[in-house]
Amino acid sequence: MTPGGDAGRRLSRRRLLEIGGGFAAGAAIGGGAAGASARDDDVAQNAEASYPFDGPHEQAGITTPRQRHLALAAFTLDDGLHGAFGRGELAGLMQDWSTAARALAAGQALPEGLGSSAGLGAPADTGEADGLGPSGLTITFGFGPEVFGTERDLVRAADRPGRLETLPRFAGDALEPRWSGGDLLVAASADDAQVAVHAIRNLARMARGAAGLHWLQRGFLPETAKAGEAPRNLMGFRDGQSMLDHRDQVSAGKFLWSGSDAPAWMRGGGTQLVVRRIRMQLEAWDTATLEHQEATVGRSKGDGVFLPGTAAGRGDDYDGSAVDPDGRGAEGSHATVARDAATATGQILRRPYSYADGVVEETGQLDAGLIFLAFQRSIPDQFIPMQERIARLDAMNEYTSPIGSAVFAVPPASRGPKDWVGSGLLG
Ligand code: HEM
Repeated sequence: MTPGGDAGRRLSRRRLLEIGGGFAAGAAIGGGAAGASARDDDVAQNAEASYPFDGPHEQAGITTPRQRHLALAAFTLDDGLHGAFGRGELAGLMQDWSTAARALAAGQALPEGLGSSAGLGAPADTGEADGLGPSGLTITFGFGPEVFGTERDLVRAADRPGRLETLPRFAGDALEPRWSGGDLLVAASADDAQVAVHAIRNLARMARGAAGLHWLQRGFLPETAKAGEAPRNLMGFRDGQSMLDHRDQVSAGKFLWSGSDAPAWMRGGGTQLVVRRIRMQLEAWDTATLEHQEATVGRSKGDGVFLPGTAAGRGDDYDGSAVDPDGRGAEGSHATVARDAATATGQILRRPYSYADGVVEETGQLDAGLIFLAFQRSIPDQFIPMQERIARLDAMNEYTSPIGSAVFAVPPASRGPKDWVGSGLLG
């Protein structure tokens, strides 16, 4: 285990024992997820899909095809974590999280002896994913800006990724602290919602004494999206069509993966992530004509092709001055503004999910929208200018409000069972 990390974690666990008390040993739930599955065949197919946690380059969950469910959690580091002690605690947590994530991605239960519950008599794994299989689970970790701040003094000065800062406030932002910021990110994506939530729950349980949950966002995609077809978002449009092609090594090298300007621990598969929770004003959207909706998005609703006049690729038929039947200029459509922005900044790798979570208290309307995830080499050079342009020009702003915002440095993958995510930074 990490030099310096164990002592701290033992302390934390002792403290938990002192304050927690009354932990019943509980009946042990059989470990391992290999038991018989009662699920029907088409679902079971997904249940057996798995992605290795370790890899030679990026973490799983970045270029992996989007799974059906997302459980996205941000954690806040414990106030007491500073300097060498804090760094040891954090290193210990990342080691334990990596060991746990490796097992979960393989469809196994959590190994014994990890995290703050170890030694308390409770089963290592909470058990609700027993028998569900890996379900394509990927777990991706990231570090928020304050992990690198001088205030906590957790990392070597040379390891601070320059310019990883909280995003500036953009026009139209209506950010809520409960959906914003965070020191550690855990993105669990799976084809089974329970498998994804199980991962977050168990990692949160292991973090006790070092980091606490700050927010949890749950996203979904349609079950029936066909291969090669981008799924529809809650506005009814295909989302995730034009974006960075990570298989194109030249553009991925330029626009996705950390390069020689990044600290050494980010090279070889590191990237930066923006998370935005964007509420949609769906009741207003649902009163708009189809023509107006299409002119706002800049794509046809049926098959998702660019509308004439919004001109993907600026073909011969491009007419920037074209207007829709409502008199709206096609230049202001989301797809056009976003494409112009991406042409200037380089594409980003979007990984959007829908959310629908109850009712907005003030309006009585559905609280639903998009969990916008975008990986890129440099947030200041890519997302920020892109969002500035979108905030100024995009017709879709009439129907959307960003209510959450966070950024993370996402380190390369753990290279094998003896390695862990973040070892280059904290080891
Ligand atoms: C609720 C919010 C959003 C919705 C519903 C949405 C929806 C869409 C849709 C339907 C498309 C066209 C289909 C596609 O290419 O995937 C698209 C494209 C795109 N969006 Fe968004 N988007 C949202 C927010 C954002 C944000 C915040 C950004 C970046 C700051 C962004 C950047 C892009 C880019 C770069 C494209 C591709 C443009 C191209 O090259 O053709 N989107 N979006």
